[in-house]
Amino acid sequence: EKKLIIAIDGHSSCGKSTVAKDLAKKIGYTYIDSGAMYRVVTLFAMRHNLISEDQVDENKLAHLISEVAISFQYNNEKQRHETYLNGELVEDEIRNMSVSNNVSVIAKIKFVRDKMVAFQRELSKEGGVIMDGRDIGTVVFPNAELKIFMTADVEIRAIRRFKELKEKGEDISLDEIRENVKKRDFIDENRDESPLKKAEDAIVLNNSHLTPAEQLDWIVDQMNKVG
Ligand code: C5P
Repeated sequence: EKKLIIAIDGHSSCGKSTVAKDLAKKIGYTYIDSGAMYRVVTLFAMRHNLISEDQVDENKLAHLISEVAISFQYNNEKQRHETYLNGELVEDEIRNMSVSNNVSVIAKIKFVRDKMVAFQRELSKEGGVIMDGRDIGTVVFPNAELKIFMTADVEIRAIRRFKELKEKGEDISLDEIRENVKKRDFIDENRDESPLKKAEDAIVLNNSHLTPAEQLDWIVDQMNKVG
């Protein structure tokens, strides 16, 4: 059977990674989280004090970015995909609110995107990949066999994220999360480099009122239509 590339793009916090991981598990594909890559670069930039008030010291970052090595590993015990920066486990740190607040200004930078896109293509050489992000169907894999564009009402996304972070013990208000989600969408949709938009040949999945299981069934249906 042909090993496809499946691109899942869409708005922030609408459950792209949940459905992507579920699908990967079900069909034996590799899941690749492109957002984690931009989060790692953001964490790296923050640690080097290169971001302040939405301004990035791009010159310094351009010099330092060659020091960033990103890798992924599946943790069997925790049953989760984990992200590493230069061999250091940073999975939890890249999901916290301060990284979420800074990531979209890092993801606007062309040399950052070029490096991430090259890595994403390198990791996908063999096919059989499900990748989620913002520009996967438009820029990274314009020839992907299946492209999904996911979205959900902003209030529903904020509430889902709120519950998730609360469970992790992060002390954060629903208002803060809603603002972060809206701000990220705005920056992602309005940037010059690879803005978030639906690829012409992507199919839309609005999951505001769908369970993860229903979303998975829907995607498997779509896959059967193309494959
Ligand atoms: O998917 P996630 O929400 O973790 O992505 C974090 C941020 O990384 C997004 O808000 C966006 O700014 C950026 N991103 C991107 N292109 C991708 C994936 C993520 O610009 N392919």
